Amino acid sequence: MKFFVDTADTAEIRELAEAGLLDGVTTNPSLIMKAGRPITDVIAEICDLVSGPVSAEVAATDYDSMLKEGRKLAEIADNVAIKVPLTLDGLKACRTFADEGRMVNVTLCFSANQALLAAKAGAAFISPFIGRLDDINLDGMELIEEIRIIYDNYPNFETEILAASVRTPNHVKQAAMIGADVVTVPPQVLRSLIKHPLTDKGLEAFLADWKKAGQSIL
Ligand code: E4P
Repeated sequence: MKFFVDTADTAEIRELAEAGLLDGVTTNPSLIMKAGRPITDVIAEICDLVSGPVSAEVAATDYDSMLKEGRKLAEIADNVAIKVPLTLDGLKACRTFADEGRMVNVTLCFSANQALLAAKAGAAFISPFIGRLDDINLDGMELIEEIRIIYDNYPNFETEILAASVRTPNHVKQAAMIGADVVTVPPQVLRSLIKHPLTDKGLEAFLADWKKAGQSIL
């Protein structure tokens, strides 16, 4: 499973990339707003830090404007994935971009049928939002399961399932068990995957014994 980080915070991205933990980055208009800088500058900086796909989302809602914005974003770097919303215009733009050989991430997916249409439109990634479904008492993980079954039924589909709106370590584990191709995770969730109290306790005990042993490896 590939790991993307869901942020436009370049300091966080730099640190996680240097640790070798990142296969890509996802952003959205809300995350760009938090970064407080022009989208083209932020995306260019992220693309310098990470060689894998970097999703940059269009803000237009009609097909022609989506094409203009998407092409401008794609010009920033070869690893930009143009992010479009799951609407009729978004799917139409996805097909055009895919025919031009561009990478597209179709976002705001909340049903298996939407994911089916994104695959038909040639998306490189479909982003089902787990947390936002859980927020309204639906089962986000069930959606990942359904999409996995559907995509596996049609080996000609090349769309990767990018589990998004991930809020907890459990979301990551379950998405991996189901076989999501990619998970995009906020930095704090990614860092929390490393932690286990027994790891900390065990390390403390080993270090105490090593001190008593009075040895040195070097
Ligand atoms: C995915 O690409 C989105 O940016 C993101 O996962 C949305 O997550 P949220 O529901 O926590 O805002």
